[in-house]
Amino acid sequence: MKNILVTGGAGYIGSHTSIELLEGGYNVICVDNFSNSSKDIFDVIHDLTGKHVTWYEADVCDVEALRKIVKAHDIDCVIHFAGYKAVGESVEKPLMYYQNNIDSTLALCEVCLENSINNIVFSSSATVYGAPQYLPLDEHHSLSATNPYGNCKLFIEHILKDVHVAHPEMNIALLRYFNPVGAHPSHRLGESPKGIPNNLMPYICQTASGLREQLSIFGDDYDTVDGTGVRDYIHVVDLAKGHAAAIKKLATAPGCVVYNLGTGNGTSVLELVRTFITENNVDVPFAIAPRRAGDIAECWADPASAKEELGWEAQYTIVDMVRDSWEAQKRMNTNEKVTVASEAV
Ligand code: UD1
Repeated sequence: MKNILVTGGAGYIGSHTSIELLEGGYNVICVDNFSNSSKDIFDVIHDLTGKHVTWYEADVCDVEALRKIVKAHDIDCVIHFAGYKAVGESVEKPLMYYQNNIDSTLALCEVCLENSINNIVFSSSATVYGAPQYLPLDEHHSLSATNPYGNCKLFIEHILKDVHVAHPEMNIALLRYFNPVGAHPSHRLGESPKGIPNNLMPYICQTASGLREQLSIFGDDYDTVDGTGVRDYIHVVDLAKGHAAAIKKLATAPGCVVYNLGTGNGTSVLELVRTFITENNVDVPFAIAPRRAGDIAECWADPASAKEELGWEAQYTIVDMVRDSWEAQKRMNTNEKVTVASEAV
């Protein structure tokens, strides 16, 4: 494996993964329509790695554009990040989500099959487990989704599994991320959602910056350690390394494989906020608010399969995550060349 096509490579997880791949000696060819990201990220990646991403501005739904890109490079593997990611927006605009997220995957599969590109890594999510029936969540847990965004992740997993059945030579890794947070240790790229953030860490960062008045903690009456929701936060650099490990696995022609990418540790909202305040020595005003519709009480991964089969294990701690998120936010606040919008998770 040498030439990796990364869809959505300018996004939050895509850009961190591109760095990891370049540092691992791969060539990175990116296709992105920059609908939620910026081209400036490629200059930052070049500064950090001394290497270039070859990038194309194109929509992954555009089969003809994909054909041209693939013909210009001898692609060995595709990592598919591109897609819409906002849960609330997906409820308001379901057709837009199904059209974009599903069509792009179909286009990609078609072009892969035409060109004998037999390796695909898909950026899936722990959202496909629905409400946990048991914890920690292993890959055998039942699957369900409660909103169009989650349905897209689930449908795409089914589509890729079916593609593997029809074309057994096709190797596919479905990577189910838990809650990605943090930023590159250079703090020159990180997460910068457009508009009001939905996710907790960007909201904490913007509140600490004074961009938001206060953080609402959605519910303190869950059956958890302190009543607030518990999640498995994972540093984006660990996640990026998980993709590099998955590519190595695909090189062994394993068929269709599924891995949780999480730390195996649960952290409550209050624990995360307090760690952020203490470690960064900054105030984050917060107040308890009603539960958010659709939220689950707790969710964390059993990451044993990824450890055994990929030799991958998360290294970064919650302290690393709050530090890197905050340092990247501070650079963003001072209008340094920090980019990167959110990525589909
Ligand atoms: C959410 C999505 C999930 C998606 C993931 C992407 C929902 C229901 N789920 O997961 O499908 O894969 O983002 O990272 O939207 N919280 C607050 N105040 C806030 C924001 C969040 O208290 O302002 C709490 C939530 O109630 C939850 C925790 O923080 O307990 C994490 O929330 P969030 O970052 O939105 O992630 P998830 O809900 O786990």
